[in-house]
This record gives sequence, C-alpha cells and structure tokens, in this order.
Amino acid sequence: MPGEGLLLNSMKHFFPIIREIIGLYRLPSVVEIGADKGETTMLLIYEKKKGNIGELIVIEPFPSERISAWSEGKEIDLRPTRSLEVLPRLPLKDVYIIDGDHNYYTVYHELKVIFGKNKTERKDIVIFCHDVCWPWDRRDMYYDPESIPVEHRHRYTTEMGVVLHDEGVVPGGFGGFPIAVRRGGPKNGVLTAIEDAISECDDYRFFKVEGIFGLGVIVPSWHRDFSKIEAVIAPFADNYLIRKLERNRVEIYLELLRVCHHVVKS
Ligand SMILES: C[S@@+](CC[C@H](N)C(=O)[O-])C[C@H]1O[C@@H](n2cnc3c(N)ncnc32)[C@H](O)[C@@H]1O
Repeated sequence: MPGEGLLLNSMKHFFPIIREIIGLYRLPSVVEIGADKGETTMLLIYEKKKGNIGELIVIEPFPSERISAWSEGKEIDLRPTRSLEVLPRLPLKDVYIIDGDHNYYTVYHELKVIFGKNKTERKDIVIFCHDVCWPWDRRDMYYDPESIPVEHRHRYTTEMGVVLHDEGVVPGGFGGFPIAVRRGGPKNGVLTAIEDAISECDDYRFFKVEGIFGLGVIVPSWHRDFSKIEAVIAPFADNYLIRKLERNRVEIYLELLRVCHHVVKS
C-alpha cells in the first residue's frame, strides 16, 4: 500500500489514555489481542517492568520474531493462536486491549465471552477496542477469511479498496486485504459488533475517541472508578476537532492512493 508508513494506525498512539486508566488498578492483569509488530506490546512490557502491570497475556496467531523473543524471555505470556480459541479458556482479567481481527463475528464473540464471564463475577474490568471508526466501524475486514464460519462472513474482495462516500468497493481505494464488498447493514463491522454485544446486556457504557481509526472504551456501569475513567476519556470522546482532523487525514491519504493508482495504470 503506497505511503502506508505515513498513516498512523497503531493503538500505541492512544497509550497515554490507556496508561492512565491502567494506573487506576493495582498490578492489573492485561490481555492484548492482536500484537502485530509489537508497538503497543512494547509499551505494555515497559509498564510491567515498572511494576504497573502484574500479568501480560498477548494473543497473536502470527507472532513476529520480536513477539516470540519477548515470549521466550518471559516478558509476555504469548498465546500464539486466535482470540476465540483462547478467551473462553482464560479466567477473567482486568484489562482487555482488542485489536485483532476487525470483523463483526470476531469482535462480537470476543465481547460476549468477556461479558458472559463477568455476569456473575461483576469484576471492574475495562476493554479498549480499536477500529471503531471508518473504515472498519461498519465494514468487516478479515485477516484470514477461512477462519470465519461461512454463514457469518460477508462477501469479500482482496483486490479492491474502500473510499469515503461509497458503500461499495473501488479499484485503488484503501485495501489490499480481504474486506466486505459492502459497508453497513446488520452484523457488519467492529462498531456494529460492540453496539450489539452491549445492547444485549445493558450493563456496560461505551466511549469513543474518533481519531486514528477510532478507540472504543467499554466500562461496566458498576466500575468502582467509573467517574475517574470517564474523566480521563472526556477531553477526547466525541470531540469535534479530533473527528475533523481524522476525516482530513483519511481524505489526504485516499487522494494519495487515488493518484498512485492512476499513475500505475497510465
Ligand atoms: C492491527 S494489528 C494489531 C496492531 C497492534 N495492536 C498495535 O497497536 O500496533 C492486528 C493483529 O491482529 C492479529 N490477528 C488477526 N486475527 C486475530 C485473531 N482472531 N485473534 C488475535 N489476533 C488476531 C493479526 O495477526 C495482527 O497482527
């Protein structure tokens, strides 16, 4: 993808928010789902070394050499498989950072497993989710389409991409990986999954920071530090300026992709 390095996309950019909320716990257990190059993992390891995290579990089906080395060095507890294979067998933890497979089926079931375990325990958990804004808010993308049951998988393309103001897919848009050919509708995208999972239990509140593809923060209404967490997120949540800047950077990036596509074709 041309100019990919230009586009901020890691959850590490939200780390000041994440760190402040983790700091409300004493030696919390943290689960990171989806580590990729380990950019956020590295910051979590640093917090663990400082004594601000007690347990750090990383779920990543395709661990890089760096992630594997951290696992061998016992800096992380690596589970080298998919989230839905690990989460049901894992006791409830304090903090979840969800940034694995960005599609309805995966995110909805990740949340249902966590909410289900917390039904009787009513632990003061917090869940951070990435990609709650365009483009994967209302559109599935699949790291490995074959891992999603066919009846839960939208028709997808790997050749075409997405642009703003188009519910379909176009040549030269943002893509190059398996994405649903249509945006919107039921059971499509990360935000839709979060809304559906929360609406089915009604015990959780949702905050949204609309920059860098969107950070969602899910907090149970009974959380002992609910108002402190709310205060940490308040300056960023539903912020007009952040929303406008995000739209602007996406527009500029899509224009770059459009021009590159045009040049390659001509
Ligand atoms: C967007 S990247 C994560 C980026 C990272 N969280 C960061 O902040 O820099 C998504 C990662 O999730 C992994 N992944 C894909 N499907 C997954 C699944 N079902 N469970 C856990 N991780 C998954 C991918 O291999 C990829 O490394």
